Amino acid sequence: MVEAPARGTVAEALETVRLTLAAAGLADARREAAELYAAVVGRAIGAAWVEGDDPLGRAASRRLEAAAARRAAGWPQAYAAQRVNFRGHWLAVDRRVLIPRPETEGLVERVLEWVRAERALGRDEPVVADVGTGSGAIAVALALEGPVPFVVASDIAHEALEVAALNAAALGARERIHIRCGPLLEPLSGERVDAVVSNPPYVATDEWERLDPAVRDYEPRLALDGGPDGLAVTRDLVGQASGALRPGGLLALEADARRAHETAAIVRATGFGRVEVGADMFGRPRYVVAYRRGDGNGG
Ligand SMILES: C[S@@+](CC[C@H](N)C(=O)[O-])C[C@H]1O[C@@H](n2cnc3c(N)ncnc32)[C@H](O)[C@@H]1O
Repeated sequence: MVEAPARGTVAEALETVRLTLAAAGLADARREAAELYAAVVGRAIGAAWVEGDDPLGRAASRRLEAAAARRAAGWPQAYAAQRVNFRGHWLAVDRRVLIPRPETEGLVERVLEWVRAERALGRDEPVVADVGTGSGAIAVALALEGPVPFVVASDIAHEALEVAALNAAALGARERIHIRCGPLLEPLSGERVDAVVSNPPYVATDEWERLDPAVRDYEPRLALDGGPDGLAVTRDLVGQASGALRPGGLLALEADARRAHETAAIVRATGFGRVEVGADMFGRPRYVVAYRRGDGNGG
């Protein structure tokens, strides 16, 4: 579709957005305006400067105005822009799904390392289950970046899966992502998988109550609240993964930094081998990686 003629330059539009955000009391209105622009047009943040003299088409201008109004009303930036960048992929997000976090990019990296190592050993391309897929961030990244021909993306929240399906289609991964609705690994109904990856809800209920309102009041509680000790969903998932994984298969979990070692202990007690806790880019213990025992690979 040809975009309707421009209403002004990118720089002019950005100045209007900056004024809107500053009037709403946002501290770094100039930077936020640039970030909103980048998300709305789907480019790197530098585009706001590089493209300053370019005309801004009407459709982009309307999207930017709407995003600025939502941000000024207090919405988190990703929901305001309705898009977030995850490992270089622009994903649609709205209040049906958790906003994917940069820490989760590191979880994907660990799975990709394993996928590449398997390939180097001459093993078949693996079938991966992304449990609690939300926006589909992990599943989409694996399907687009790895030699991963088949990702089962499951979630208990039907409305989240609508967003995941949209992202899989928009980013050209529809053929490789199989969306299934239901609790944990139940939608796989007895099928064997080579890897289970999950960023489960891992905030304890009393911590959820005290979360920053910008998170608690906007993002789905189902995506965050992991029960009284934050580990209820993780515990059930680890038990089910032990049954669904092939011997030697990978379990890769994101955990709260305060409970990563406790998560590792649960995984170990469930009979997984080579259990390791990995750090995120800020040096906090965040990832628990382990292998199902059974063929020597599981330790
Ligand atoms: C922390 S979010 C992760 C979303 C996405 N994978 C990401 O990393 O951005 C947790 C997801 O798990 C889903 N979930 C919560 N309990 C579940 C359960 N028992 N079975 C399956 N999915 C569940 C939520 O709906 C939510 O989408």
